[in-house]
Amino acid sequence: MNRISDIMKTLFATATVLAGAYSATAGNGVEVEHLGTNNTLVRVTADGKYLLLPVQESNDEATVNVIADGNLDKTINVRLAKTKVDYTVPLSLEKYKGKDVLLNVVTSQNRATVREAKEDACWNNFSVTDTFDTTNREKFRPAFHHTPLYGWMNDPNGMFYKDGVWHLYYQWNPYGSKWQNMTWGHSSSADLINWVHHPAAIEPNGLGTVFSGSSAIDRAGSAGFGNDAVVAMYTSAGVSQIQSLAWSNDGGQTFNIYSGNPVLTLESEARDPNMFWNPETKEWTLVLAHALEREMLIFTSADMKEWTLQSAFGKGLGAQGGVWECPDMFELTVEGTGEKKWVLLCNLNPGGPFGGSATQYFVGDFDGKTFRADTDADGRVPTKWLDYGKDHYATVSFSDAPAGRRTVIGWMSNWQYAPEVPTMQFRSANTLPREMGLFRDSDGQLYVSSTPSPEVDAIRGKIMKSAGTVNVGRRQKEYAIPEICEIVMDIDPMKSDSIDIVLSNGLGEKVVMTYRSKTDELVFDRRESGITDFSQDFPAVTVAPAHSADGKTGLRIFIDRSSIEVFGKEGRFAMTNLVFPNEPYSRLSFESHGGKAKVSNLKIYSINTEK
Ligand code: FRU
Repeated sequence: MNRISDIMKTLFATATVLAGAYSATAGNGVEVEHLGTNNTLVRVTADGKYLLLPVQESNDEATVNVIADGNLDKTINVRLAKTKVDYTVPLSLEKYKGKDVLLNVVTSQNRATVREAKEDACWNNFSVTDTFDTTNREKFRPAFHHTPLYGWMNDPNGMFYKDGVWHLYYQWNPYGSKWQNMTWGHSSSADLINWVHHPAAIEPNGLGTVFSGSSAIDRAGSAGFGNDAVVAMYTSAGVSQIQSLAWSNDGGQTFNIYSGNPVLTLESEARDPNMFWNPETKEWTLVLAHALEREMLIFTSADMKEWTLQSAFGKGLGAQGGVWECPDMFELTVEGTGEKKWVLLCNLNPGGPFGGSATQYFVGDFDGKTFRADTDADGRVPTKWLDYGKDHYATVSFSDAPAGRRTVIGWMSNWQYAPEVPTMQFRSANTLPREMGLFRDSDGQLYVSSTPSPEVDAIRGKIMKSAGTVNVGRRQKEYAIPEICEIVMDIDPMKSDSIDIVLSNGLGEKVVMTYRSKTDELVFDRRESGITDFSQDFPAVTVAPAHSADGKTGLRIFIDRSSIEVFGKEGRFAMTNLVFPNEPYSRLSFESHGGKAKVSNLKIYSINTEK
């Protein structure tokens, strides 16, 4: 009897010692209990709006199981801090108000002892708060491009226009600035420039995380979700990739998940459904990326739920150097004619013209079931690129844009280095909105033009400099430029071989754009543009065919804090490249080679931004 009670006493004492050694109160309603080398419980009293999770970007991901009332509410992957806290991300506590929430955290296996695990910086840095500071003013945060308030962003998704508002959803990680926890983030705008940020629109659920997709307005209520319902189709990414529906009856603010999901499954990887109403056939049409097969599958449906496979397009065509993703298909009218043609955007990664990800497109005909691409004079299907920079991907259009517009936005980064770019609390921005058109060039081929949307003209500010004619020779001509600006010019190469347009700062960092008259190309060299060493794939030279009509070209150049977008005259080419100068570029200069050249109608505009 005595011996047993002695043993029990000893056990009890040991347990007390262990509890004393391994549980700690982080304060602020947070209590931490270590269970082993890679398992810790974090108990939180939800008496604030947020639990701030401390993140260290270089650390491994921990799996955080969020448990309320004994039920697993969600599982997120977070790079919890090990040696230092880079920033925090908020876990909303609103729905657990007044309850205890338990985080069952599984960290990486690489620790020998609990004592070691206990030393992680995160445990003392959880806090419950009512505010989360989103006034992030990192120096590379764009001034007039869309970015998420915080966290990682990739593809724009499910964009549509309704009742005067442009809705933009995007691939978002709300719990860190690297790819994870794919969720549809949501922003909206009346002018495509100033964005209001909303709570997450579609969050991961039992079928998986929420990959890219599209939205369509179901005016007749054919899916049974009501007239004018906004219906989103996205890829549920779990072990497999399957297609799911969600619908909104409040104009895209909140979505209901369809209980009959998935609506489309295949035995192989397929994603990024692009769904639209075809007024000719009076059917819903769906283009789905058969990613590893490098082709697009086309389906039709009467109700968005039952889909019939009609055809496949693309095997062996165009650029095939990587997986095919994020399709978009729409009809455009050829400039100056009444002729209508279909365009199929086909994003590809890797295999872009300058490495990594890029958007190729095909021009052709679509009979409601099958897409057939136009061929060139040799009977081949040519490879065409929507943008000749390195930082333009996953471009798709807004559904239901007004006045027959076909407005697109792309993700302004490249999978080669997107997670490494030198920003922290947010990562990645979107391109300026662009209008798609079709023009026929002298080679007889149809090409897609990309023109900044009219809303972009509206943010032009003061003219900082205007010059009717600039004679350009070997001696450099220089002009001061503001940190964010639009520069417009016409270029007449005259007898020169090339003309350099150089942006530079006082540190000697520069971007050199060269118009080569012989080959009618615009070259963009960012090898000495500033911070380039975060990836060996970042220093680069990109080249665009200028498609100029008479050997003269014109440029519109948009400079934001970490991006440069160059558009050719009438949108005949676009080129988007990121740059990370240590100081903003403050000078524009010109120099010609092989003879004199002329720049005319030079205008340097400041940009009006409310941000
Ligand atoms: C393209 C992509 C898509 C996918 C998404 C996941 O960048 O790979 O194919 O749906 O990103 O975030």
